[in-house]
Amino acid sequence: MTISREDVTGHFAVRAATYDRSSSWCTDGDLAEVVLAETSPRTFDRVLDVACGTGLVSRVFHGRTAEVVGVDITEEMAGQARPYLDRLVITPAESLPFEDGSFDIVVCRQGVQFMNLPDAVEEMVRVTRPGGRITVVNLCAYGVADRDEYFEILRLRNPVRRHFFLPGDLEELVRKAGCETVTSRRYVSVEDVDVWSDNGAIDEERRERIREVYRGASPEFRSLHAVREADGRFTDHMLFAVVTGHKPGPLDAEEVR
Ligand SMILES: C[S@@+](CC[C@H](N)C(=O)[O-])C[C@H]1O[C@@H](n2cnc3c(N)ncnc32)[C@H](O)[C@@H]1O
Repeated sequence: MTISREDVTGHFAVRAATYDRSSSWCTDGDLAEVVLAETSPRTFDRVLDVACGTGLVSRVFHGRTAEVVGVDITEEMAGQARPYLDRLVITPAESLPFEDGSFDIVVCRQGVQFMNLPDAVEEMVRVTRPGGRITVVNLCAYGVADRDEYFEILRLRNPVRRHFFLPGDLEELVRKAGCETVTSRRYVSVEDVDVWSDNGAIDEERRERIREVYRGASPEFRSLHAVREADGRFTDHMLFAVVTGHKPGPLDAEEVR
């Protein structure tokens, strides 16, 4: 099935009102700290938040840097980001309306899975200044042992997801788009599956199918995800890859010191 831009905006328009509480990682301060540590923002940096959604990443940079610009395709999501942005542009990540090298830092959390790839990541690298950095944060399977079951769970939970990743896939995307010294960190988020699946955009039958996958999960999946079950509810330890690439170019004075 081909997933259109309207499918994606339709999905997120329905979720917009409750998005911020649809996963524990959304407002997780520790994950925000990891993103800050990876991007090392300075007061004079210009930041682009790609697929900014309701602004949960934008607000981490707001007030710390010279400028925060957000892009997204779903007005209902992105409208909520306005208080944390100097500028919001409703546009697809695959064709960013910015000059080459416009930003010091480009960040994209839980966005690339919905985009045309590698086009979107290439655009992110294009608009980053030489010497700047790109950080992509996305849920991933731990490896081949949990991949099929986890991708099925992710597909059921969000029918407009186009891509599913292992951590190495994201590193390769960022490297092939033109970055060097690509580094990857892991972050594990603990999610109550019943809360996580109650995203406002899928029906109860689909949520039950997600529970079914957990009930029948392989020992490898259960072990990698440290699945806990109590009173019919499941808890999953979900893996994020936080991948940072540096665009080749001169380091500035502060980075050399
Ligand atoms: C899961 S939300 C992530 C929001 C935010 N980055 C966060 O971490 O909370 C995904 C967002 O990606 C946006 N999106 C999906 N495809 C896009 C595209 N091709 N270009 C720009 N934004 C896109 C959706 O509209 C939605 O707001």
